[in-house]
Amino acid sequence: MKIKHKTILIAAAASTLIAFLGWRMVRPLEIFSVSPRFEYPLATANIPTVFPNLRAETCGACHTAVHRDWKTSMHAQAWSDPYFQADYKNEGNKQICLNCHTPLDRQQKFRVIGFHVGDKWNPVLAPNPQFDPVAKREGVTCAACHLRHGVIYGPYGVGLKAPHPTARWNNSNEVCVRCHVVNNRRWDVFYRLPPCGTVAEIASARRRFALRHQNIETTFRISPSPAAPATLADDGYGAGIPAGKVAALNCVECHMPAVERPLVPGGAPRAGRQHLWRGGHDPRTVTAVLRATFEAGAPAPGQQRYVLTLTNTGAEHDVPTGVPDRHLNVDLRLLDAAGRVLRSETYAIERTVLWRPFIVDLWDTRLKPGEPRRYSIAFSSNAIRPASVEAVVRYEFMDASHRARLHYRGAASYVVFQRQILLHQPAETPHSGL
Ligand code: HEC
Ligand code: HEC
Ligand code: HEC
Ligand code: HEC
Ligand code: HEC
Repeated sequence: MKIKHKTILIAAAASTLIAFLGWRMVRPLEIFSVSPRFEYPLATANIPTVFPNLRAETCGACHTAVHRDWKTSMHAQAWSDPYFQADYKNEGNKQICLNCHTPLDRQQKFRVIGFHVGDKWNPVLAPNPQFDPVAKREGVTCAACHLRHGVIYGPYGVGLKAPHPTARWNNSNEVCVRCHVVNNRRWDVFYRLPPCGTVAEIASARRRFALRHQNIETTFRISPSPAAPATLADDGYGAGIPAGKVAALNCVECHMPAVERPLVPGGAPRAGRQHLWRGGHDPRTVTAVLRATFEAGAPAPGQQRYVLTLTNTGAEHDVPTGVPDRHLNVDLRLLDAAGRVLRSETYAIERTVLWRPFIVDLWDTRLKPGEPRRYSIAFSSNAIRPASVEAVVRYEFMDASHRARLHYRGAASYVVFQRQILLHQPAETPHSGL
């Protein structure tokens, strides 16, 4: 009787555990937590009267050069980007995605007026009479970065003759923080780096650097967001990183090349910055930052070895950074004379996260700044006689299974390095006719 009791208890506990884990395998996955900084869209009810609307072309009528830059950037495509569109649909068109991808309230069809029982993933929505469908398609538009409380913020603040009010940022890097710093600190989440860990990666590189060069500025720490006002007017600048430390992020210094030009046609030339924000979507930027060599390694008896060395020579964060789907794929191949693959070895340079049943950072093989990474392929010339050996490195936005899940058909990768080395051919049989 006693034993039977125990068995029932164990069976009940086991089935509860199985049900719990089963639920964890299917429940909606929240890879980041919603912080006060971006829980609401940016309020734009109060705008300078000189603006008929907040479309980029309205700013662009005067700021022609900046507008031309911005149009070529991924920020201008943060809504139209087919990869975003596929993912947004797959996630069930969640409102929260819009607060960074179309961040102004007037870019959104619905207003956020509160949250269902405090669940930040589940906002209470109401129709938005201010909605501007043209502005929506502009994604991260000018006002998303420059407009707060009816004032246009920028790097100068004084000494300008602008038709709109202006004010000065403490530091231009404040602007990037609203959308590029995302955390998740729940009891059931075990990230080593935040889900989009760019800032934490830079901090960790600085720490390593400081160890080797004692007298160089050490590090900055990201403190949890202070009790930011959870009002519709929350401006999102600063975001819990101490003001002095924001400057050290250097996002603007790398992603917005310096240029001297007038702000408006006919204006005085000023030290400004190109609005380009090139990153993984631009093969030239990635190729320029990756130093890659492929060459014969030290010979060993009876064995040949070829070594690919990759170094992140210019990004202070890991390459790739940002959403963990991005990765580099390394392919080393031995080919015969007809170009057929005799043997190949592949490696992924990526951050691997276990998403279910719990979020756990497993390992991370991405390229840290300045640290050379080597991959090699070796063979014994007695066993195999390749005509050439080849290395190919691709930048990939997502892997094949993710692509299939999203039903995404757009381009998902491109080559950043490719080199083939011809090997000595086996001695040919002498030609009898000569
Ligand atoms: C009617 C023309 C006009 C329009 C429209 C206009 N601006 Fe300006 N803006 C100016 C002029 C002129 C200056 C000052 C140029 C100077 O003194 O060199 C200026 C200055 C600026 C500055 C520098 C501010 C600082 O203190 O650092 C920023 C940023 C800016 N504008 C952004 C915008 C944005 C964003 C929009 C659209 C929401 C916009 N502007 C619309 C004419 C315009
Ligand atoms: C309002 C939100 C927002 C702000 C503010 C913002 N970004 Fe972005 N950024 C995005 C989004 C969304 C994307 C992704 C767009 C896409 O690929 O669909 C992005 C993409 C990027 C990329 C990647 C481009 C690529 O080729 O993959 C870089 C680099 C970047 N941002 C730099 C910056 C810098 C530097 C700042 C500060 C000056 C900044 N961002 C401010 C939302 C923002
Ligand atoms: C992702 C954020 C972001 C977006 C979007 C953005 N800007 Fe800027 N903008 C900045 C930053 C950061 C600077 C300051 C760079 C520096 O430190 O000099 C800046 C500088 C400026 C300046 C001062 C002159 C210069 O060239 O640096 C003007 C004018 C300006 N922006 C206008 C615009 C207009 C117009 C748009 C839309 C077509 C726009 N910005 C979109 C972040 C942004
Ligand atoms: C020392 C220069 C440097 C600094 C500082 C820097 N970046 Fe980058 N970033 C790069 C380069 C180069 C690339 C392209 C290589 C790559 O794909 O990672 C890049 C790529 C990116 C990408 C695209 C994702 C990817 O890896 O392809 C994003 C997003 C990004 N950076 C955001 C930021 C933000 C946000 C900051 C500030 C917190 C920042 N970067 C600071 C140089 C820099
Ligand atoms: C806190 C701001 C923020 C929120 C909220 C947000 N994103 Fe993003 N998203 C970004 C930034 C910044 C990037 C580019 C840099 C990076 O990869 O970290 C990005 C990049 C992406 C990309 C990669 C685009 C490309 O072409 O490489 C996809 C897809 C995406 N987001 C989908 C979503 C979806 C779906 C949601 C809602 C569940 C969402 N995002 C919510 C800021 C945000």
